Formats: sequence, C-alpha cells, structure tokens
Amino acid sequence: MKNLEALLSERARVRGVDGVIGGIRRQKKDAIPLHYGYPYPESYPLESFCGTASRAILRDGPEAINYGGADFAEEFERRTLKRLATRGIQCDGDGILVTSGSSQAINLVCSILIDVGDPVLVEAPSYMGGLNSFRNFGARLLSVEVDEDGLCTDALRDLLVERNQRGATMPKLLYCITNFNNPSGSTTTLTRRRELLNLAREYGFLILEDDAYGELRFEGEDLPCLGAIDTEGLVIHVGSMSKILAPGVRLGWAVADPRLIEMMNVHKADGGTNPMARTIVGAYLAEVDMQARLEELRTGYRLRRDAAIEAMEEYMPEGCAWTYPQGGYFTWLTLPAGLDSDEMLPKMAEEGVRPLSGRQFYCDGRGAANFRISYSYPDPDDVREGVARMARVIRQSMKD
Ligand SMILES: Cc1ncc(COP(=O)(O)O)c(C=O)c1O
Repeated sequence: MKNLEALLSERARVRGVDGVIGGIRRQKKDAIPLHYGYPYPESYPLESFCGTASRAILRDGPEAINYGGADFAEEFERRTLKRLATRGIQCDGDGILVTSGSSQAINLVCSILIDVGDPVLVEAPSYMGGLNSFRNFGARLLSVEVDEDGLCTDALRDLLVERNQRGATMPKLLYCITNFNNPSGSTTTLTRRRELLNLAREYGFLILEDDAYGELRFEGEDLPCLGAIDTEGLVIHVGSMSKILAPGVRLGWAVADPRLIEMMNVHKADGGTNPMARTIVGAYLAEVDMQARLEELRTGYRLRRDAAIEAMEEYMPEGCAWTYPQGGYFTWLTLPAGLDSDEMLPKMAEEGVRPLSGRQFYCDGRGAANFRISYSYPDPDDVREGVARMARVIRQSMKD
C-alpha cells in the first residue's frame, strides 16, 4: 500500500511509533534484568496450575472454552469481588468489568472519556503503559508531581485553580497509582487520598485509580484505596492478576459506577474476556488459599527490596538518592546533577545490567536524572549484584 499514511486515523498519524520495546530487545541477553516489571519466575504456580487447568476445563465442559465461559469463569469474578470487599471496595456484578489485564480496563476508560485534545492529569513520574494509552487516544497530558508521600495534592490544587482562573479546559480525568507507584515506589498518604477526592468533587473530574500492586504491601499498614473511601462514584478502580499470579493470564478488572461499566462494556467489543483463562484462574482461586499465597509473595518482594536498598546504601556514590518502597516492585534512583540516565544505558549493558532510564515515565521530557530499578524479577543476590554494577557505571560517569 503506497498511500498508507493517508488512510491512517488522525490519532495514529499524530501518535506515530516510539519503538521502546525494540530498544529493550536490542540489549544484551545475559545482563541482570532490573528493567522487567515481572513477578519472579519461581512464584509462578506452574504445577498446580496445570492440574487445575485440566480439571476445570473438563468439569465445565465445552462451555469452558465457548464464548462466555461457564461456572469457573464466573467464579473468577465472584472471587475477585470477594477479595475487593475485604479491602473495603464494595460492589456487585453490575459494578465490575473483567478485562484482558488492567491495560484493557485503562484503554476502555479512555474510549468512553477521552476525545482528542482533552486534558488528562497524570502523576509525574507515572507508568509508561498508562501514559501511552492516554497518548493513543490523543489526550493532552498535564503532570502533577509525586514525592515520597505520593501525589502532591497542593500542586494539583494550584494547577486546577490556575486553569480555572484563566478559563482553560478543565480535566475530566486524573490517573494515579496510589499504592507503590510504578516507577517511583511511593504511596499516597491517607490525608492526600482524602484531599484528592475533595478536589475531584470540587472540580468535577473522575479518578482512575490503578492498583496493580495494592495487594503487595510487605511493610507498614495498608491504607484504604480511593475506591474504598469514595462514596460518590468519583473513582474507577482498576486491578490485575498480573503481579499476584502471572501477566500471561491477561486478567484484570475495573470497578466503577455501573453506568460507566455499562459504557465500557459497549466499547469492549472483543467477544468477551478470554473464557479459558477465566475458567482456569477461577478454579485456581477456588482451590488455593490466596491470602497465604499473597503472604509468600510479600516475603519474596520484601527480600528483593531489602537487597536493592542494602546494595544502594553500600555501593551508590555520594549524591545519589533513592526511594524506600513499602510494597510493590520498584525503587526510583535519582542521579547526581549533570548525569544522564539515557547516556549511561549502553555502559550499563556492557557492565551486565539493565535498568530503565527515567524519561519514558514523564510526559514533559524530564527523567534524565533517574533510573527505575525493578527488583521484582531476579533473585536477591542478582538484585544486589545488578545494583553494584549500576553503581560502578555511575561512579565512572562522574569521573568522565
Ligand atoms: C501500574 C501498572 N498498571 C497496569 C499494568 C499493566 O497490567 P496488566 O498486565 O494487568 O495489563 C502495569 C504493568 O506493569 C503496571 O505497572
């Protein structure tokens, strides 16, 4: 096709391609992977999963793999609602939509809320997958700072007041990762969560709360999610099996005002969320003690977090700073002034370590001073060694 360009939607033409995945694949294979936001391989319940899969499919029969699914597929939704209820998020079947990972839930929120040019509030830094979904729908991204206490509600209020005063288009949506933010690892405090809901009410926007890591707190007290505090339908809460079971099952959910859920379902138009995956995971959830599994995972991630932090304390040069996550997969490293994380990536690959540089987590060109270190995937010794290798490159770059 010669004139492909002319056939593209305006969205696709404006967005183009960014090649991030290609960039990752081109790196050396045997380097320590501090870039994957993946569960550690030993956490996958491979054997029990195989047994469960065959039993569940045979028990539900052809309907297990027909459009729609049968009992175990519905069991997935029932079990998910039950776990959400234990975290204070109350809803019934009309208020939940099971999706292909939380990524699809985020895309569906975009489908029903975002027109080209609409302003959307995002944390700075924030998850690049979320940012890319908003970009794909043509949103204009407005950054709100995140610090050790999570989303800075004072900065958000200032931004909203300023836009309101000059008559600018007001945002309809704010996207946030309240628990163990990807990439910063920080958690939004309860005071800020309440203030955020006040601002949403006052300025009339919805909040998309992405809670991919919320069940993985390994230190400190759980805080109620926005979805648990909200009583006015201001929050669309999305979650996922990716980080607590396996990304490959591609199962997530959105919980929101049933009117929004109904709209999202109209735009889903995908023949239904994979009935076979729902059947297998539904049966798995009915068989395992999920609380015990979560405890095991929390221990696994705490050990990896400890390895990362101890190695940073031991090896990182003066002038580096990092966050101290109480859950989830990530810590966020800030470099001494004058260093550039993108420029260091080839040297890191040579040294045998792969972190992610910070730029892709911002929508305004910042991030040169940062690396996201994901401690979730390698074992603790490799996490320690990976951080030590990063520190060697940073020290060398400071001398260059
Ligand atoms: C904050 C956040 N949200 C969503 C996702 C995507 O999750 P899923 O596999 O459920 O689509 C990720 C994956 O890394 C994530 O870090």
